Amino acid sequence: MKLLKSFTWKKQKSIEEIPKYPKISCKTLFTFLFYDLKFKKVIFMVEKTILVEKKKEMKEEIVDKKLLEKASQKLEEKRDEKVIVLKVEEKVEEKKQLNKEISIEELPGVGAATAEKLREAGFDSMLSIAVASPGELTEIAGLTEATARKIINTARHKMDMGFVSGNELLEKRRNIGKISTSSKAFDALLMGGIETNGITEVYGEFGSSKTQIGHQLAVNAQLPKEQGGVEGMVCYIDSEGTARPERIKSMAESLKLDPIKILNNIKFIRAFNSDHQMLIINKIEDLIKNEKLPIKLVVVDSLMSHFRSEYVGRGTLSDRQQKLNKHMHDLLKLAETYNLAVYLTNQVMANPAIFFGDPTTPVGGNIVAHASSVRIYVRKGKKGTRVARVIDAPHIPDSECAFRITEEGIRDIE
Ligand code: GTP
Ligand code: MG
Repeated sequence: MKLLKSFTWKKQKSIEEIPKYPKISCKTLFTFLFYDLKFKKVIFMVEKTILVEKKKEMKEEIVDKKLLEKASQKLEEKRDEKVIVLKVEEKVEEKKQLNKEISIEELPGVGAATAEKLREAGFDSMLSIAVASPGELTEIAGLTEATARKIINTARHKMDMGFVSGNELLEKRRNIGKISTSSKAFDALLMGGIETNGITEVYGEFGSSKTQIGHQLAVNAQLPKEQGGVEGMVCYIDSEGTARPERIKSMAESLKLDPIKILNNIKFIRAFNSDHQMLIINKIEDLIKNEKLPIKLVVVDSLMSHFRSEYVGRGTLSDRQQKLNKHMHDLLKLAETYNLAVYLTNQVMANPAIFFGDPTTPVGGNIVAHASSVRIYVRKGKKGTRVARVIDAPHIPDSECAFRITEEGIRDIE
C-alpha cells in the first residue's frame, strides 16, 4: 500500500508540471485506468460466459437431435414389429375361427352329453381332439376305446391341421420375449431366460427356491428388453399363501427400481380352491382383452396344491386329471394367444418305479408334462446353493447350473 501511495504521489507531481493537460489529478487518472481495466475484465468474463453457454446449447442441441433420431428409429422398429404381430395374430385368429366352426358334436358318436364332458375336460376344438390319445378320451369322457379312436380319426380328417409356413413360424418366434432370472448362469441354461408364448414349470422339494424364482421373475418381467425384461405387468396367482410383497420390495430396491411402481404392476390373487384357480385364468383374459392390461407374466404358485388336497384317493384321479387338463389347456392358450410367459411351480413325490438315481418326480402326470414347454428341476446344493436342471425342453440340452438366494434375490455364485 505504501509503495502504491508513493508511486501515485510521484506521478501526480509530474503530470501537473505539463500545462497542456487539463488539471486532473494523476490519482484520478490512475483510478480511472484501473477501473477501465477492471471493466474490460468484467466484459471479457461476460463474453466468455456467453460463449460457454452458447457452446453448451449447441452441444445439447446435437445430443437432442441424436436422441430424437434414435427414438424415431426405435418407434419405426416397434411399428414394424407391431405390424408383424398383428399379421400373425390375425392369421392365428382366422385359423382358430376355421377350427371352431366345425363343432365337436359333428363327430360320430358324440352326443350332447359326451360333448359337454369333452368340453369340460378342455377338449373343446377339433385340434385338441385330433391330437389326443384314445386312452385320454376313454379316461376323461368315459368312451369306449373303439369310439375314442373313431372320434380322433374323424377329427384328424375334418380339421385344418394348422400348417404354417416356416417364415410365419420364424416371425412368431422372433417376437418371443425372455425374462431374466437375475443369475447369468441360470439365464444361460435357459438360453436367455424364461420364454413368453409357453409354460415354464419349476418343480422341487420344499425350500428349493420355486417361490423365490417366482418373486424374482415378477420384478424382472417389468424391466426393459435390454435389461432382461418384457416390459409387462404380472399376474401372481398364490394358492399357498406364500406371496411376500416385502420380498418383492427388497428385490426391486436392490435393482434400483421404484418398489411402489413394481408392486403396483403386480396383480396378486389368492386362489382358494381348484375351481377358483381355474376361474382366475378366465379373469386374466378379461384383464388383457377388456381392461387392456399389458400382462406379460402369469405366476401360478403352486399349480397342484389344491388339486392334490381336493382329490384324494385313486378313485378320484380321473376327475382330477380331467380338470387339470382343462386348466393346463387354458394356461397354454393364454400364453400362446397373448404371447405371455406362464411360470408354474410344482410339488414333487418320490417315484417308486425309479430304482437308481434321484426318484424325485413332479406331480400331475403326463398332462402337466405335455403342456409345459420347459421343465426345470431345482434342488438344494452344497453350502446353501441351489441347482437347476433343465428336463425335457425342445430347444435346450439337458444340463444344469448352480445359483444362490441372497438378500437381493436370485444371484450367481461368485
Ligand atoms: P415350498 O413352497 O415350501 O415347496 O418351497 P419353495 O421351493 O417355494 O422355496 P422358497 O422359494 O420359499 O425358498 C425358500 C428359501 O429361500 C429359504 O430356504 C431361504 O433360504 C430363501 N429365502 C426366502 N426368503 C428369503 C429372504 O428374504 N432372504 C434370503 N436371503 N433368503 C430367503
Ligand atoms: Mg413355495
